[in-house]
Amino acid sequence: MRRPFDLIVFGATGFTGRLVAEYLQTTYGADGRLSWALAGRNLARLEQVRRELGAGETLPLLEADASDARSLSRLVGQARLIVTTVGPYQLHGQALVTACAKAGTDYVDLCGEPAWMAAMIPQLQAPAQRSGARIVFSCGFDSIPFDLGVMFLQQHARETLGVPLQRVHGRVKVMKGGISGGTLASALATFEAMGRDPALARTMADPFALTPGFRGPPQPDGDTAAWDELAGCWTGPFVMAAINTKNVHRTNALRGHPWGEDFEYDERRVAHNEWHARGMARTARLQNTMLGVGPLRRLLGRFVLPQPGSGPNLQQRESGRYELLFVGRTPDARVLQATVTGDRDPGYGSTSKMISESALCLLGDVDRSMTRGGVWTPGAAMGMALVRRLQQRAGLQFSTLAPADPVSHPIPARTPA
Ligand SMILES: NC(=O)c1ccc[n+]([C@@H]2O[C@H](COP(=O)([O-])OP(=O)(O)OC[C@H]3O[C@@H](n4cnc5c(N)ncnc54)[C@H](OP(=O)(O)O)[C@@H]3O)[C@@H](O)[C@H]2O)c1
Repeated sequence: MRRPFDLIVFGATGFTGRLVAEYLQTTYGADGRLSWALAGRNLARLEQVRRELGAGETLPLLEADASDARSLSRLVGQARLIVTTVGPYQLHGQALVTACAKAGTDYVDLCGEPAWMAAMIPQLQAPAQRSGARIVFSCGFDSIPFDLGVMFLQQHARETLGVPLQRVHGRVKVMKGGISGGTLASALATFEAMGRDPALARTMADPFALTPGFRGPPQPDGDTAAWDELAGCWTGPFVMAAINTKNVHRTNALRGHPWGEDFEYDERRVAHNEWHARGMARTARLQNTMLGVGPLRRLLGRFVLPQPGSGPNLQQRESGRYELLFVGRTPDARVLQATVTGDRDPGYGSTSKMISESALCLLGDVDRSMTRGGVWTPGAAMGMALVRRLQQRAGLQFSTLAPADPVSHPIPARTPA
């Protein structure tokens, strides 16, 4: 398939899209082996981004609007792969991903909107299989470090124990960074959609919403404060668990359930102590209640929360970082642990590197005979090839801990009463 560009960054004028363009420009340049272009709905704004990047006319600009199917079909026919940061995806994403699925154009995004993904998977699967397009949702902080972290630990289990871990706990020990207006807009769009259609709330609460035709066993409840006997600490709810846990189960399903059909997974934040964990659970309940009230949500979205286009500044991005712990056990109680760390703030500094390297991994490292056309998770589509690439280029570290290693926490945890 001869196309003018290897990849196009759609949404390059947005907060995250600019960071993706900046990463590609500084890491790969615009006149090297990678041929790529910037795309968006406004050429003048794209020109400004190109000027700010210090890139000349060797970096082409392409105009397309997410609501104009003809402009999108022209766009996707020009590249082997589209990187899109045009969100909320449930508002602006459908026509683009559909055009990619039909045209055989690979696609990576930053979608953290599982109800939309659940609706799109059955629509996209057949056209993507026919055309050979590999559609990979969730190539940012949600859900790459979690999806690959579980996969990495399970690979370690297979190599050292010969069996998979039936139960894995994903624990967020450190997460330092800010949030963009675009991410908040996506969260608000999800609450709006649930307000219009209560069935979506059931989809959001269903750990198997992204594995059509398969339901595993009941999964642990993530909404309360709880003592974690495997990690040896108090834990509270983690806001992105509802996204990541679904992607982790989808990876297991897409790979033919190598971790078992009875696999259990949950995600939580590590708390300093019991009272901190209870405070986390109260805050999460309060946020959900407030965002569930339409007029209050709209007021917050309009006047209080950061607006689309804005996000954490350079200093916040560069001083950010994250540290995740994965602890799992076999049915006969053997325990293994692994950590995943990332430099830069998770949502933007690290995410812009993760989505860029996912695009390059799909284009260059993953054989089409292994990963055929269809709708994928990052872990199922790229697996250990992506782990290697992210370690070499994107500031992530995947490490196993010896079974005897104590699990260290920022503040010593209390044992439960
Ligand atoms: N998974 C993760 O870890 C992660 C991390 C970061 C972000 N995200 C997601 O990424 C998305 C973008 O976030 P952000 O903060 O970068 O948002 P943003 O700053 O608001 O950027 C949105 C982009 O979409 C473009 N856009 C909007 N409507 C369009 C249309 N009709 N046609 C073409 N382009 C259109 C905007 O173009 P204009 O400049 O012309 O308005 C802008 O370039 C959100 O959905 C967010 O949730 C996910």
